[in-house]
Amino acid sequence: MPGTDEENPNEVLCSCSGTTRGLIIDLVRQGKDLEGISRYSGALSGCGGCEWDIAELVKALQAEHAGETKP
Ligand code: FES
Repeated sequence: MPGTDEENPNEVLCSCSGTTRGLIIDLVRQGKDLEGISRYSGALSGCGGCEWDIAELVKALQAEHAGETKP
């Protein structure tokens, strides 16, 4: 199971765009959703094979940070 923590921040989750776990964590913290992440990083815009992994990671991160990022 992929963790949401920052272990392996250099692990590439989307090999088409070279997007790493660390980048996705950063983007979620900046308030980007899956679509914003895709647009910014190019993830999910190639083969789509990373979609499940990245969607799960983003969902978990958003849940984790929901309390901290309230406006
Ligand atoms: S691995 Fe992410 S689009 Fe192909």
